[in-house]
Amino acid sequence: MDRNTNEAELFAAVRADFPATERWTYTDVSGRDILSGRVRAAIDAHLDERMYNGGDKAKMFALIERVRDKFASFINADSDEIAYTKNISEGLNIVATALPWQAGDNVILCPELEHPNNVYPWLNLERHGLETRMVAPRDGHIPVDRIIERIDAHTRVVTVSSVTFAPGFRTEFERLGRLCRERGIFFLVDGAQSIGTLKTDVRASFIDGLSVSTQKGLLGLYGMGLLYVRREWAERMQPTYLARFGVDLGDAHEAAMGGYAYKLMPGARRFDLGNYNFLATAALEPSLDLLLEIGSERIERRLARLAHALAQGFIDLGLPICGGAPGAHMTNIVTVGTLGNGGHDGVNDSRMNDLAAHLVDNKVKFSLRRGLLRFSFHIYNNSDDVKRILDLTRAFLRK
Ligand SMILES: Cc1ncc(COP(=O)(O)O)c(C=O)c1O
Repeated sequence: MDRNTNEAELFAAVRADFPATERWTYTDVSGRDILSGRVRAAIDAHLDERMYNGGDKAKMFALIERVRDKFASFINADSDEIAYTKNISEGLNIVATALPWQAGDNVILCPELEHPNNVYPWLNLERHGLETRMVAPRDGHIPVDRIIERIDAHTRVVTVSSVTFAPGFRTEFERLGRLCRERGIFFLVDGAQSIGTLKTDVRASFIDGLSVSTQKGLLGLYGMGLLYVRREWAERMQPTYLARFGVDLGDAHEAAMGGYAYKLMPGARRFDLGNYNFLATAALEPSLDLLLEIGSERIERRLARLAHALAQGFIDLGLPICGGAPGAHMTNIVTVGTLGNGGHDGVNDSRMNDLAAHLVDNKVKFSLRRGLLRFSFHIYNNSDDVKRILDLTRAFLRK
Protein backbone atom coordinates (compact mmCIF):
# COMPACT_ATOMS: atom_id res chain seq x y z
CA MET A 1 0.00 0.00 0.00
CA ASP A 2 1.39 3.39 -1.01
CA ARG A 3 2.11 5.46 2.10
CA ASN A 4 0.89 8.54 0.24
CA THR A 5 -2.48 7.05 -0.59
CA ASN A 6 -4.96 9.33 1.05
CA GLU A 7 -6.50 8.26 4.33
CA ALA A 8 -9.98 7.49 2.98
CA GLU A 9 -8.69 5.36 0.10
CA LEU A 10 -6.31 3.53 2.37
CA PHE A 11 -8.97 2.56 4.90
CA ALA A 12 -11.50 1.78 2.16
CA ALA A 13 -9.00 -0.72 0.71
CA VAL A 14 -8.46 -2.20 4.16
CA ARG A 15 -12.21 -2.57 4.76
CA ALA A 16 -12.74 -4.24 1.39
CA ASP A 17 -10.57 -7.15 2.57
CA PHE A 18 -12.86 -7.87 5.57
CA PRO A 19 -15.92 -9.58 4.05
CA ALA A 20 -17.83 -9.54 7.36
CA THR A 21 -18.23 -5.76 6.93
CA GLU A 22 -20.62 -6.47 4.03
CA ARG A 23 -22.89 -8.47 6.32
CA TRP A 24 -22.57 -6.69 9.64
CA THR A 25 -21.92 -3.36 11.22
CA TYR A 26 -19.15 -5.02 13.16
CA THR A 27 -18.20 -3.06 16.28
CA ASP A 28 -17.01 -5.84 18.55
CA VAL A 29 -13.23 -6.16 18.37
CA SER A 30 -13.20 -5.96 22.17
CA GLY A 31 -14.95 -9.33 22.02
CA ARG A 32 -13.10 -10.75 19.02
CA ASP A 33 -11.87 -9.66 15.62
CA ILE A 34 -13.13 -10.54 12.16
CA LEU A 35 -10.73 -12.17 9.71
CA SER A 36 -9.45 -10.57 6.54
CA GLY A 37 -9.03 -12.20 3.17
CA ARG A 38 -5.26 -11.99 3.50
CA VAL A 39 -5.36 -13.82 6.85
CA ARG A 40 -7.59 -16.52 5.39
CA ALA A 41 -5.16 -16.90 2.47
CA ALA A 42 -2.23 -17.33 4.88
CA ILE A 43 -4.16 -19.96 6.86
CA ASP A 44 -5.07 -21.82 3.69
CA ALA A 45 -1.50 -21.68 2.41
CA HIS A 46 -0.19 -23.10 5.69
CA LEU A 47 -2.77 -25.90 5.73
CA ASP A 48 -2.22 -26.71 2.05
CA GLU A 49 1.50 -27.00 2.65
CA ARG A 50 0.89 -29.36 5.58
CA MET A 51 -1.76 -31.33 3.67
CA TYR A 52 0.08 -31.77 0.39
CA ASN A 53 3.73 -31.72 1.47
CA GLY A 54 3.78 -32.43 5.18
CA GLY A 55 5.26 -29.01 5.88
CA ASP A 56 8.81 -27.76 6.06
CA LYS A 57 10.02 -27.40 9.63
CA ALA A 58 12.83 -24.98 8.81
CA LYS A 59 10.31 -22.68 7.14
CA MET A 60 7.97 -22.99 10.10
CA PHE A 61 10.73 -21.94 12.51
CA ALA A 62 11.66 -19.10 10.18
CA LEU A 63 8.03 -17.93 10.38
CA ILE A 64 8.21 -17.98 14.20
CA GLU A 65 11.33 -15.81 14.22
CA ARG A 66 9.96 -13.40 11.59
CA VAL A 67 6.77 -12.85 13.55
CA ARG A 68 8.72 -12.51 16.79
CA ASP A 69 10.80 -9.77 15.13
CA LYS A 70 7.75 -8.02 13.70
CA PHE A 71 5.85 -8.07 16.97
CA ALA A 72 8.94 -6.80 18.81
CA SER A 73 9.23 -3.88 16.42
CA PHE A 74 5.47 -3.25 16.70
CA ILE A 75 5.79 -2.61 20.46
CA ASN A 76 9.34 -1.15 20.40
CA ALA A 77 11.00 -4.14 22.07
CA ASP A 78 13.89 -6.45 21.11
CA SER A 79 13.11 -9.86 19.65
CA ASP A 80 14.77 -11.56 22.62
CA GLU A 81 12.20 -9.93 24.86
CA ILE A 82 9.27 -11.78 23.24
CA ALA A 83 7.95 -15.23 24.18
CA TYR A 84 5.16 -17.22 22.54
CA THR A 85 2.17 -18.14 24.67
CA LYS A 86 -1.31 -19.50 24.06
CA ASN A 87 -3.26 -16.60 25.56
CA ILE A 88 -3.05 -13.70 27.98
CA SER A 89 -3.63 -15.85 31.04
CA GLU A 90 -0.60 -17.95 30.25
CA GLY A 91 1.61 -14.87 29.82
CA LEU A 92 0.45 -13.40 33.13
CA ASN A 93 0.98 -16.72 34.92
CA ILE A 94 4.45 -17.08 33.40
CA VAL A 95 5.45 -13.78 34.96
CA ALA A 96 3.63 -14.38 38.24
CA THR A 97 5.31 -17.73 38.83
CA ALA A 98 8.82 -16.84 37.63
CA LEU A 99 9.43 -13.86 39.89
CA PRO A 100 11.58 -14.37 42.99
CA TRP A 101 8.83 -13.97 45.61
CA GLN A 102 9.38 -13.92 49.34
CA ALA A 103 6.63 -14.44 51.92
CA GLY A 104 5.11 -11.06 52.79
CA ASP A 105 5.64 -9.57 49.32
CA ASN A 106 2.61 -7.96 47.71
CA VAL A 107 1.07 -7.33 44.31
CA ILE A 108 -1.31 -4.41 43.77
CA LEU A 109 -4.28 -4.45 41.40
CA CYS A 110 -7.84 -3.20 40.96
CA PRO A 111 -9.73 -6.51 40.71
CA GLU A 112 -13.16 -5.00 40.03
CA LEU A 113 -11.90 -3.67 36.70
CA GLU A 114 -9.51 -6.47 35.78
CA HIS A 115 -10.47 -9.48 33.75
CA PRO A 116 -10.59 -12.51 36.09
CA ASN A 117 -7.60 -13.83 34.17
CA ASN A 118 -5.51 -11.11 35.82
CA VAL A 119 -6.91 -11.79 39.31
CA TYR A 120 -6.78 -15.57 39.81
CA PRO A 121 -3.06 -15.89 38.98
CA TRP A 122 -2.34 -13.71 42.04
CA LEU A 123 -4.84 -15.38 44.37
CA ASN A 124 -3.18 -18.66 43.42
CA LEU A 125 0.11 -17.39 44.85
CA GLU A 126 -1.36 -16.44 48.22
CA ARG A 127 -0.56 -19.98 49.38
CA HIS A 128 3.12 -19.01 49.14
CA GLY A 129 2.58 -15.99 51.40
CA LEU A 130 1.98 -13.39 48.66
CA GLU A 131 -0.46 -10.63 49.60
CA THR A 132 -2.92 -9.52 46.89
CA ARG A 133 -3.45 -5.85 47.65
CA MET A 134 -6.74 -4.71 46.14
CA VAL A 135 -7.73 -1.13 45.36
CA ALA A 136 -11.26 0.00 44.53
CA PRO A 137 -12.05 1.67 41.20
CA ARG A 138 -12.96 5.35 40.98
CA ASP A 139 -15.79 6.34 38.60
CA GLY A 140 -15.03 3.37 36.37
CA HIS A 141 -11.30 4.12 36.23
CA ILE A 142 -8.36 2.15 37.58
CA PRO A 143 -7.21 4.76 40.11
CA VAL A 144 -3.49 5.23 39.63
CA ASP A 145 -3.26 7.51 42.71
CA ARG A 146 -4.78 4.84 44.94
CA ILE A 147 -2.39 2.24 43.61
CA ILE A 148 0.56 4.55 44.27
CA GLU A 149 -0.66 5.17 47.85
CA ARG A 150 -0.69 1.43 48.53
CA ILE A 151 2.87 0.79 47.32
CA ASP A 152 5.31 -0.06 50.10
CA ALA A 153 8.73 -1.67 50.55
CA HIS A 154 7.21 -5.16 49.99
CA THR A 155 5.49 -4.35 46.69
CA ARG A 156 7.02 -6.48 43.93
CA VAL A 157 4.39 -6.19 41.18
CA VAL A 158 1.79 -3.66 40.08
CA THR A 159 -0.54 -4.96 37.40
CA VAL A 160 -3.22 -3.20 35.33
CA SER A 161 -5.11 -3.50 32.09
CA SER A 162 -3.96 -0.82 29.67
CA VAL A 163 -7.62 -0.41 28.73
CA THR A 164 -10.37 -2.11 30.74
CA PHE A 165 -12.76 -4.51 29.00
CA ALA A 166 -15.58 -2.50 30.61
CA PRO A 167 -16.15 0.40 30.70
CA GLY A 168 -13.23 0.55 28.24
CA PHE A 169 -11.29 3.47 29.71
CA ARG A 170 -7.60 3.95 29.17
CA THR A 171 -5.49 3.51 32.31
CA GLU A 172 -2.82 6.16 32.97
CA PHE A 173 -0.25 3.42 32.64
CA GLU A 174 2.77 5.54 31.65
CA ARG A 175 2.62 7.44 34.96
CA LEU A 176 2.35 4.21 36.90
CA GLY A 177 5.12 2.61 34.85
CA ARG A 178 7.53 5.45 35.51
CA LEU A 179 6.93 5.26 39.24
CA CYS A 180 7.32 1.47 39.32
CA ARG A 181 10.60 1.78 37.38
CA GLU A 182 11.95 4.26 39.93
CA ARG A 183 11.09 1.85 42.75
CA GLY A 184 12.25 -1.37 41.07
CA ILE A 185 8.70 -2.79 41.00
CA PHE A 186 7.69 -5.08 38.13
CA PHE A 187 5.04 -3.29 36.08
CA LEU A 188 2.86 -5.86 34.34
CA VAL A 189 0.25 -4.86 31.77
CA ASP A 190 -2.67 -6.84 30.36
CA GLY A 191 -2.83 -5.46 26.83
CA ALA A 192 -5.94 -7.35 25.66
CA GLN A 193 -7.92 -4.22 24.90
CA SER A 194 -5.16 -2.01 23.54
CA ILE A 195 -2.83 -4.09 21.39
CA GLY A 196 -3.38 -3.26 17.74
CA THR A 197 -5.80 -0.44 18.46
CA LEU A 198 -3.66 1.86 20.62
CA LYS A 199 -0.04 2.73 19.94
CA THR A 200 2.08 0.48 22.16
CA ASP A 201 5.61 1.47 23.11
CA VAL A 202 6.83 -0.63 26.00
CA ARG A 203 9.98 1.46 26.46
CA ALA A 204 8.27 4.84 26.49
CA SER A 205 5.61 3.46 28.86
CA PHE A 206 8.11 1.85 31.29
CA ILE A 207 6.39 -1.51 30.93
CA ASP A 208 8.26 -4.56 32.29
CA GLY A 209 5.80 -7.21 31.15
CA LEU A 210 3.02 -7.10 28.54
CA SER A 211 0.72 -10.00 27.81
CA VAL A 212 -1.51 -10.00 24.72
CA SER A 213 -3.53 -12.43 22.65
CA THR A 214 -4.02 -12.44 18.89
CA GLN A 215 -7.79 -12.70 18.39
CA LYS A 216 -8.72 -9.10 19.06
CA GLY A 217 -6.76 -6.01 17.95
CA LEU A 218 -4.00 -8.08 16.35
CA LEU A 219 -6.55 -9.46 13.88
CA GLY A 220 -5.47 -13.09 14.17
CA LEU A 221 -6.79 -16.35 15.61
CA TYR A 222 -7.68 -17.63 19.07
CA GLY A 223 -5.20 -19.88 20.87
CA MET A 224 -2.13 -17.70 20.58
CA GLY A 225 -0.59 -14.96 22.69
CA LEU A 226 2.67 -13.07 22.95
CA LEU A 227 4.49 -12.05 26.08
CA TYR A 228 6.98 -9.20 26.35
CA VAL A 229 9.34 -9.27 29.33
CA ARG A 230 11.99 -6.58 29.60
CA ARG A 231 15.40 -8.19 29.28
CA GLU A 232 16.74 -6.91 32.62
CA TRP A 233 13.84 -8.62 34.39
CA ALA A 234 13.63 -11.75 32.21
CA GLU A 235 17.25 -12.61 32.87
CA ARG A 236 16.61 -12.59 36.61
CA MET A 237 13.61 -14.91 36.24
CA GLN A 238 13.50 -18.70 36.41
CA PRO A 239 10.66 -20.20 34.32
CA THR A 240 8.34 -22.49 36.25
CA TYR A 241 7.88 -24.66 33.18
CA LEU A 242 11.05 -25.39 31.26
CA ALA A 243 11.55 -27.31 28.02
CA ARG A 244 13.91 -27.48 25.08
CA PHE A 245 13.19 -24.10 23.52
CA GLY A 246 13.86 -22.33 26.80
CA VAL A 247 17.36 -23.84 26.91
CA ASP A 248 20.25 -22.35 24.95
CA LEU A 249 21.86 -25.06 22.81
CA GLY A 250 23.04 -22.77 20.02
CA ASP A 251 22.22 -24.16 16.59
CA ALA A 252 21.60 -27.72 17.82
CA HIS A 253 18.58 -29.61 16.44
CA GLU A 254 15.21 -28.73 18.00
CA ALA A 255 15.10 -32.09 19.78
CA ALA A 256 18.79 -32.34 20.71
CA MET A 257 19.58 -32.97 24.37
CA GLY A 258 22.29 -30.79 25.87
CA GLY A 259 24.24 -31.35 29.05
CA TYR A 260 22.40 -31.69 32.35
CA ALA A 261 23.89 -28.38 33.42
CA TYR A 262 21.84 -26.12 31.20
CA LYS A 263 21.90 -22.47 30.26
CA LEU A 264 18.63 -20.60 29.84
CA MET A 265 17.86 -18.80 26.59
CA PRO A 266 18.47 -15.05 26.66
CA GLY A 267 15.67 -12.71 27.68
CA ALA A 268 12.07 -13.85 27.40
CA ARG A 269 12.97 -16.68 25.01
CA ARG A 270 13.48 -18.82 28.12
CA PHE A 271 9.67 -18.90 28.48
CA ASP A 272 9.13 -20.64 25.13
CA LEU A 273 8.40 -24.33 25.66
CA GLY A 274 7.86 -26.79 22.82
CA ASN A 275 6.38 -26.61 19.34
CA TYR A 276 4.53 -23.44 18.45
CA ASN A 277 1.05 -22.64 17.19
CA PHE A 278 2.36 -22.38 13.64
CA LEU A 279 -1.11 -21.96 12.14
CA ALA A 280 -2.04 -18.99 14.34
CA THR A 281 1.41 -17.51 13.74
CA ALA A 282 0.90 -17.83 9.97
CA ALA A 283 -2.46 -16.10 10.41
CA LEU A 284 -0.93 -13.30 12.47
CA GLU A 285 1.85 -12.37 10.07
CA PRO A 286 -0.21 -10.61 7.37
CA SER A 287 -2.17 -8.72 10.04
CA LEU A 288 1.01 -7.56 11.73
CA ASP A 289 2.35 -6.49 8.35
CA LEU A 290 -0.80 -4.47 7.74
CA LEU A 291 -0.78 -2.84 11.19
CA LEU A 292 2.91 -1.96 10.80
CA GLU A 293 2.28 -0.58 7.33
CA ILE A 294 -0.61 1.65 8.37
CA GLY A 295 1.18 2.70 11.56
CA SER A 296 -0.23 2.53 15.07
CA GLU A 297 -0.42 6.27 15.59
CA ARG A 298 -2.60 6.64 12.52
CA ILE A 299 -4.76 3.71 13.65
CA GLU A 300 -5.15 5.10 17.17
CA ARG A 301 -6.13 8.53 15.82
CA ARG A 302 -8.70 7.13 13.42
CA LEU A 303 -10.31 4.85 15.98
CA ALA A 304 -10.49 7.66 18.54
CA ARG A 305 -12.26 9.82 15.92
CA LEU A 306 -14.83 7.10 15.25
CA ALA A 307 -15.35 6.46 18.97
CA HIS A 308 -15.69 10.17 19.75
CA ALA A 309 -18.24 10.60 16.96
CA LEU A 310 -20.31 7.66 18.22
CA ALA A 311 -20.13 8.80 21.85
CA GLN A 312 -21.10 12.38 20.96
CA GLY A 313 -23.93 11.11 18.77
CA PHE A 314 -25.32 9.02 21.64
CA ILE A 315 -25.01 11.98 24.00
CA ASP A 316 -26.91 14.17 21.52
CA LEU A 317 -29.66 11.53 21.50
CA GLY A 318 -29.84 11.75 25.30
CA LEU A 319 -28.24 8.39 26.09
CA PRO A 320 -25.91 7.89 29.05
CA ILE A 321 -22.32 7.48 27.86
CA CYS A 322 -20.03 5.90 30.40
CA GLY A 323 -17.38 8.46 31.30
CA GLY A 324 -19.40 11.40 29.94
CA ALA A 325 -18.18 13.62 27.12
CA PRO A 326 -15.47 12.05 24.96
CA GLY A 327 -12.00 12.85 26.29
CA ALA A 328 -8.53 11.47 26.92
CA HIS A 329 -9.91 8.45 28.81
CA MET A 330 -11.44 7.10 25.61
CA THR A 331 -9.82 4.79 23.07
CA ASN A 332 -11.61 2.73 20.42
CA ILE A 333 -14.40 1.71 22.82
CA VAL A 334 -17.74 3.38 23.56
CA THR A 335 -19.94 2.10 26.38
CA VAL A 336 -23.55 3.13 26.88
CA GLY A 337 -25.65 2.56 30.02
CA THR A 338 -24.82 2.37 33.71
CA LEU A 339 -21.71 0.47 34.76
CA GLY A 340 -22.64 -2.35 37.12
CA ASN A 341 -26.34 -2.34 36.23
CA GLY A 342 -26.19 -5.90 34.95
CA GLY A 343 -24.19 -9.13 35.20
CA HIS A 344 -20.98 -9.82 33.31
CA ASP A 345 -22.73 -10.12 29.96
CA GLY A 346 -26.10 -8.50 30.61
CA VAL A 347 -28.01 -5.28 31.17
CA ASN A 348 -30.78 -4.88 33.77
CA ASP A 349 -32.53 -2.02 32.03
CA SER A 350 -35.44 -2.96 29.79
CA ARG A 351 -35.12 0.12 27.54
CA MET A 352 -31.42 -0.52 26.96
CA ASN A 353 -32.16 -4.19 26.33
CA ASP A 354 -34.80 -3.22 23.78
CA LEU A 355 -32.28 -0.90 22.09
CA ALA A 356 -29.73 -3.73 22.08
CA ALA A 357 -32.29 -6.11 20.53
CA HIS A 358 -33.17 -3.50 17.88
CA LEU A 359 -29.49 -3.13 16.93
CA VAL A 360 -28.96 -6.90 16.84
CA ASP A 361 -32.06 -7.29 14.61
CA ASN A 362 -30.43 -4.79 12.27
CA LYS A 363 -27.16 -6.68 12.08
CA VAL A 364 -25.04 -4.59 14.41
CA LYS A 365 -22.47 -6.64 16.36
CA PHE A 366 -21.39 -5.36 19.76
CA SER A 367 -21.23 -6.79 23.31
CA LEU A 368 -23.17 -6.47 26.54
CA ARG A 369 -20.83 -6.04 29.51
CA ARG A 370 -21.70 -5.24 33.12
CA GLY A 371 -24.80 -3.20 32.36
CA LEU A 372 -23.31 -1.58 29.27
CA LEU A 373 -23.66 -1.82 25.51
CA ARG A 374 -20.05 -1.91 24.35
CA PHE A 375 -19.10 -0.83 20.83
CA SER A 376 -15.48 -1.16 19.73
CA PHE A 377 -13.82 -0.10 16.49
CA HIS A 378 -10.91 -1.31 14.41
CA ILE A 379 -9.31 -0.51 11.08
CA TYR A 380 -12.18 -2.02 9.04
CA ASN A 381 -14.73 0.41 10.56
CA ASN A 382 -15.67 3.74 9.05
CA SER A 383 -17.93 6.72 9.64
CA ASP A 384 -20.80 4.95 7.84
CA ASP A 385 -20.80 2.42 10.68
CA VAL A 386 -21.09 5.23 13.22
CA LYS A 387 -23.89 6.87 11.23
CA ARG A 388 -25.77 3.60 10.85
CA ILE A 389 -25.68 2.85 14.60
CA LEU A 390 -26.85 6.39 15.38
CA ASP A 391 -29.62 6.29 12.73
CA LEU A 392 -30.88 2.97 14.10
CA THR A 393 -30.76 4.32 17.65
CA ARG A 394 -32.64 7.49 16.64
CA ALA A 395 -35.33 5.43 14.92
CA PHE A 396 -35.64 3.24 18.03
CA LEU A 397 -35.98 6.23 20.35
CA ARG A 398 -38.75 7.73 18.16
CA LYS A 399 -40.87 4.56 18.45
C1 LIG B 1 -8.69 -7.33 29.70
C2 LIG B 1 -8.72 -8.76 29.26
N1 LIG B 1 -7.81 -9.63 29.71
C3 LIG B 1 -7.81 -10.92 29.33
C4 LIG B 1 -8.72 -11.39 28.43
C5 LIG B 1 -8.73 -12.82 27.99
O1 LIG B 1 -7.67 -13.56 28.48
P1 LIG B 1 -7.17 -14.88 27.71
O2 LIG B 1 -6.45 -14.45 26.47
O3 LIG B 1 -6.29 -15.56 28.65
O4 LIG B 1 -8.39 -15.70 27.38
C6 LIG B 1 -9.69 -10.53 27.91
C7 LIG B 1 -10.70 -11.04 26.96
O5 LIG B 1 -11.74 -10.53 26.76
C8 LIG B 1 -9.69 -9.19 28.33
O6 LIG B 1 -10.59 -8.31 27.86
